[in-house]
Amino acid sequence: MRIPLVDLKTQYQDIKEEVLSEIGQALDGMQLFLGKNVQTLESNFAEFCGVESAVGVSSGTDALHIAIRACGIGPGDEVITVSHTFIATIEAIILAGAKPVFVDIDPQTYNMDTGQIERMINSKTRAILPVHLYGHPSDMDPILELARTYKLKVIEDACQAHGAEYKGRRTGSMGDAGCFSFYFTKNLGAYGEGGIITTSDPDIAERCRMLRDHGQNSKYHHSMMGINGRLDEIQAAVLRVKLPHLEDWIEKRRNLAQAYNAGLPALLEKPQEMPWAKHVYHLYVVRTPERDQLRAWLESKGIGAGMHYPIPVHMQEAWRVYGGGDFSLPVTEEITKEIISLPIYPEMTNEEANYICSCIREFGEPGWSVAVEGQAIPSAED
Ligand SMILES: Cc1ncc(COP(=O)(O)O)c(C=O)c1O
Repeated sequence: MRIPLVDLKTQYQDIKEEVLSEIGQALDGMQLFLGKNVQTLESNFAEFCGVESAVGVSSGTDALHIAIRACGIGPGDEVITVSHTFIATIEAIILAGAKPVFVDIDPQTYNMDTGQIERMINSKTRAILPVHLYGHPSDMDPILELARTYKLKVIEDACQAHGAEYKGRRTGSMGDAGCFSFYFTKNLGAYGEGGIITTSDPDIAERCRMLRDHGQNSKYHHSMMGINGRLDEIQAAVLRVKLPHLEDWIEKRRNLAQAYNAGLPALLEKPQEMPWAKHVYHLYVVRTPERDQLRAWLESKGIGAGMHYPIPVHMQEAWRVYGGGDFSLPVTEEITKEIISLPIYPEMTNEEANYICSCIREFGEPGWSVAVEGQAIPSAED
């Protein structure tokens, strides 16, 4: 059996006719950007998240960059965030001219440790930027409370968390702005690049619309420096077709997570869903000190696995300047050595999940001589 980390082909077959017909209509009309597909997607996605507005942009990275700038954050400002995230979160802060300030993560949710935020707030702090990593929401109440107390903006990085909920509220609806990626592997993915910003603040929405389109308020009238950050009509057409399926796809991911939770051996630390959370399992991430051996073992069994992410941002060559010296984030640094992502996608079957569980149980059997990294792993028959 071969099971990839992600499989996009089966899902495409299910929606192919509709997708091709919508793309065909977009091409027939030759309105290729900021047309009716983008507008409809924006209003449908705003409704899905429970916010007033959504602004389609060209990627999750641009969603973050534009939202940060639309919140009035720029050079000299500091933004409190996490180092355990995809690099784009940090790139967006720096692209906006601001400085990322890192706090550690909570070892249960792998999201921002909210107990560490307050001591990092100073006169330059302008925003808190939690990342709803893997599809599990951050603990938003303490974040929103601190933001109220210190008059800070809250920008949610919901790039991995379309449809996730915190105390019944959808991610992207709690901060001043929410940022989503439509990278093709995401729970809602384009067939190219895309992203969207959600907000209920009309001024932020307006600034996002201008920033994504070269700062124009009307054609060739540029009232601020913007970027080319528009979402194109073809991607919007694809996403419009996919959005009505999202809740069903999320349920399928949640069922697979349950199968994993039931079938995986105790040697792995499984993802936790907090009582206040609805996890959408963009990634199913487990933890073991034998991560590299397990990954090689799974590979030998035809099972794809990933690492999200093996090196924290503050330890990356390009960004050490924002950590540096004795700076350390102990939980982040420890867990990044041990995490491994198992395959999960709506079209994966329970049999496939069970097969993966049985392979991992076999890996963990007592007396099993686990190969060290770089050596061949003996097959079960050896
Ligand atoms: C947490 C996080 N933030 C930001 C991004 C950036 O999104 P994109 O790849 O669409 O630019 C991603 C996507 O990969 C992400 O996972």
